Amino acid sequence: MKNAPILIIGKNGKTGARVNQRLQSLGYETRPVSRSTTPSFDWEDPATWKSAIQGTRSAYVTYQPDLAVPRAEATIKAFMRVAAEAGLVHVVMLSGRGEEGAQRAEEALITSGISWNIVRCSWFNQNFSENFMLEGILAGELVLPAADTLEPFVDADDIADVAVATLTNARHRNKLYELTGPRALNFAQCIEEISEALGRPVKYTPVPVDDYINALNEQGVSEDYQWLLRELFTVVFDGRNSQVMSGIEEALGRPATDFKTYVQKTIASGVWNTTTQRQSA
Ligand SMILES: NC(=O)c1ccc[n+]([C@@H]2O[C@H](COP(=O)([O-])OP(=O)(O)OC[C@H]3O[C@@H](n4cnc5c(N)ncnc54)[C@H](OP(=O)(O)O)[C@@H]3O)[C@@H](O)[C@H]2O)c1
Repeated sequence: MKNAPILIIGKNGKTGARVNQRLQSLGYETRPVSRSTTPSFDWEDPATWKSAIQGTRSAYVTYQPDLAVPRAEATIKAFMRVAAEAGLVHVVMLSGRGEEGAQRAEEALITSGISWNIVRCSWFNQNFSENFMLEGILAGELVLPAADTLEPFVDADDIADVAVATLTNARHRNKLYELTGPRALNFAQCIEEISEALGRPVKYTPVPVDDYINALNEQGVSEDYQWLLRELFTVVFDGRNSQVMSGIEEALGRPATDFKTYVQKTIASGVWNTTTQRQSA
């Protein structure tokens, strides 16, 4: 089992893909899975879990759609039972800050009897470039139901570095790391930094949460996802998570990546380039 592959649940995800790439370049064998892989892994279909886990020794776990959803705790409990039966000995789980549901799911992992790590994160920088906020940036206006709340956005590359450290170095066992970036910013400040570095106008427009959710509804966004976004922008995004934490320094002995560095590397990647994005659409 010592050389058995490391399971990665969330193969194409913002963090799963980065964790996979890092482990492979360090020479570890991996088994990255999601609904589109063989074997497949679907959080909504427990029948897929056992064959995905079997033969692996440790796992990096990203839950979908979000540990904040009410069913997450029961699903993580059930997953940990299958994981123990299948012989998994160590689970590293990605979690969110200030979410009651996520904290209950963390508890299910901690009490499972399997050795664990929790990587509890603030909002990712990459939401601006690999998630639902990208479209707004390309259109020149990001519209969200958030006013001045400060959030210390964290970089997905830092999250992946911490996840890999916990997966590969036993000194981290059974620890929770709370990861944030080094500066708390509101959305208007983030967009100002992005716009300035891009050299083109991008503006931030805050709207009431009901208007935002109604617009999602008109676009045909699922009720589940509407619930999640309302929960994130009202209950969770109320300032409770504004504090900068030192989890990245604690785990890696180096500072967290600044938002400015993220902006520079994202510009270099071309993802915010409106000309090339239009051509590839
Ligand atoms: N974004 C943030 O700011 C933030 C902050 C803190 C915590 N988190 C947590 O991060 C986790 C997500 O991690 P991530 O951002 O690295 O991943 P991600 O980018 O959201 O992952 C997307 C991938 O998940 C797979 N997927 C979707 N539904 C699935 C299902 N039912 N079963 C299995 N795979 C499924 C999809 O691949 P297939 O189509 O191939 O299945 C998709 O490519 C969530 O639990 C969230 O709570 C996010």
